[in-house]
Amino acid sequence: MSTVQEVVAATIRDVPDFPSPGILFKDIGPLVGDPEAFGAVIEHWRGRHTGSIDKVVGIDARGFIFGGALALALGVGFVPVRKAGKLPGATIERSYDLEYGQATLAVQADALTPGERVVVVDDVLATGGTAEAACELIEQVGGVVAEFLVVLELVALGGRDRLTGRVVEALASA
Ligand code: PRP
Ligand code: MG
Repeated sequence: MSTVQEVVAATIRDVPDFPSPGILFKDIGPLVGDPEAFGAVIEHWRGRHTGSIDKVVGIDARGFIFGGALALALGVGFVPVRKAGKLPGATIERSYDLEYGQATLAVQADALTPGERVVVVDDVLATGGTAEAACELIEQVGGVVAEFLVVLELVALGGRDRLTGRVVEALASA
């Protein structure tokens, strides 16, 4: 029987030159399109976090796929961290650097009750800018980030260095 790490490594597809020439895109399509592989990821995380967290946070957009499924598997609520301009009501925003330019993430100010423990979920950890901004936003609204969960870590881009002091679990690395 394959481990979840082996399943992830076998079902993420490399797509050369997407979205632009020279970029090797890591496509999670085959993973989430296979219920056994998708289920193995969710079941692995569910086993580690049952009973210990209050909410799951997913990062727009691909983090929603994994985060929503995990929240239901754990029987807890889901909180979206969205790209700015999409959430109604009072929000808190945080900008972060991209390779070219900046992006902004947002969360609803009342998304969490202060002190709630969460896991933050995304598909890929690359430079770490997205993950760092999302974790900081959650802390700004009073949450406690128990762990950052990611399917795939692109080690050479050093994202883990921006998350020093946080617990990071990646199921595969490239
Ligand atoms: C991708 C990926 C991660 C992020 C990682 O999201 O899904 O969220 O980049 O990059 P970083 O560690 O360098 O910040 P992106 O916003 O490109 O697209 P998405 O909306 O499809 O998730
Ligand atoms: Mg993303």
